[in-house]
Amino acid sequence: MLDLFVGLAIALGLFLLVRGIAARARRNPHRLPVPPGPKGLPLLGNIYQLPQTVPWEGYDKLCKEYGDIIYLKALGQGLIVLGSQQRVVDLLDKKAVNFSDRPSLPVHELMDINWSFAAMPYGAAWRQYRRNFHQYLNNNAVQEYHPIMHEETKNFLRKLKSNPDQIFEGVQFLFGTAIMRAAYGFDDIRQNESLIHIAEALVHEMAESAVPGRFLVNNFTPLKYIPSWFPGAGFKKHFKMVAQMSFEVVHRPFEEAKRDVDDGRKSSYPSMAHSFIDRLPEDSDPTRAELEEIARSVCAIAYLAGAETTVSSATALLYALASYPEIQAKAQAEIDKVIGSDRLPLVKDRGELPYVHAILKEVSRWYTVAPLGVAHSNTEDDEYDGYFIPKGTIIIQNNWAILHNPEVFDKPFEFIPERYLKDGEIDPSVPDPDIAAFGHGRRICPGRHFSNDGLFVMAASLLATYSIAAPKDKEGKVVPMKLELKNPVVSARFD
Ligand code: HEM
Repeated sequence: MLDLFVGLAIALGLFLLVRGIAARARRNPHRLPVPPGPKGLPLLGNIYQLPQTVPWEGYDKLCKEYGDIIYLKALGQGLIVLGSQQRVVDLLDKKAVNFSDRPSLPVHELMDINWSFAAMPYGAAWRQYRRNFHQYLNNNAVQEYHPIMHEETKNFLRKLKSNPDQIFEGVQFLFGTAIMRAAYGFDDIRQNESLIHIAEALVHEMAESAVPGRFLVNNFTPLKYIPSWFPGAGFKKHFKMVAQMSFEVVHRPFEEAKRDVDDGRKSSYPSMAHSFIDRLPEDSDPTRAELEEIARSVCAIAYLAGAETTVSSATALLYALASYPEIQAKAQAEIDKVIGSDRLPLVKDRGELPYVHAILKEVSRWYTVAPLGVAHSNTEDDEYDGYFIPKGTIIIQNNWAILHNPEVFDKPFEFIPERYLKDGEIDPSVPDPDIAAFGHGRRICPGRHFSNDGLFVMAASLLATYSIAAPKDKEGKVVPMKLELKNPVVSARFD
């Protein structure tokens, strides 16, 4: 009897093995290898080789050793790093139909953030959410928010007069407020200050959750079913708290905007929420719930994805201006000549202020706010340049490496706005940092026009009215400043 069982077990094992080999052969008929990469440990793979502290530099080092497309595996999950513009264009642009998915992360379900289209799988639902977002934030539509940007910049400059040391808090408030107003029409955002803090914490949690190898549950999905009282399941309690934050961020401000509309409180300028709410069908309409869900989500993601990123770039700008007084002086001379001192610069002056424009391009390149972008994934198996790319591979784009490639940007670690100029005009032959700073393909950042316009107005107006200097200690010595990573997706300053 025992012999029979052993025989059956061996037969079953052989059957599964042969079936596995056949399936692999079917999926990879040309028997192509995956891209090169460091050899990993059995089962664990390259988990200990995934760079953790400054990952974009770590991945760049690996790319220099193995090539500009590398393959790693962590606990069974495949991961590809694209280390050059060519690789990114080949996969994320030219093969966008297959490479526009997001990795499916069980933590997103635990954190209850599947409402965010930034995390949604590529498909009909994502397309519908993104289209709704785009109608309010495309290049033309953002002009509706220029008055908000101009007004908030003026408020920022006014406050700076009495509190020059609070400049970093000032830019945070400026962009937090501008985006809240554009998204929800709140004229007084102080009432939503607690919300801003919750949103900030949530963004941090989202960024942490996506770091490869950070949470075991992302590699072993069944872990999400263990009860929170189980020893070692503390992460479940933590994510429950995050889910509560997620609920607050997506529901509270939208409900408030609905009350404003119901009570006839009009905001000074157009907002996404008011426009959505005005167009929602009656409660009895069967499509109402779905349309309201889209509206709620699209407004919330504008704030979540837009505030910290834009503030991070503004912070880098302040750092650069304080570190390079001669660049600041050149920009001020241009503003004096073109605008004079009777008014503040406006977004529409950008074409006439090429040097200030070049400073903003250089900030975006030099201080890559999202150095590794947001990971993509491929929906189907793929063959590319002699390599096999299994479906569901996490695709990481090293935007920092692309924007610091010395073959494209000479002396990449130096801050040189002049690199974009020729005969006093923007030189179209120099690659624009937008080729990588905002990601790629169909997932490219849809908020980039808002942040580019808002940052331009803030920078030009600040230069028109103030000079930025590095802080000094009591003895009058310059205190060295440093720019550091704040969370794994968005860089920011700590001093
Ligand atoms: C300096 C400012 C900003 C930077 C550097 C930045 C960068 C990025 C990057 C790298 C991505 C991922 C693209 C990809 O997957 O390839 C992204 C996605 C996204 N960004 Fe931005 N962003 C900024 C500002 C904004 C603003 C102001 C908003 C909203 C008003 C916004 C909304 C979004 C959304 C909704 C996505 C997800 C798109 C999708 O998955 O389809 N971002 N951003």
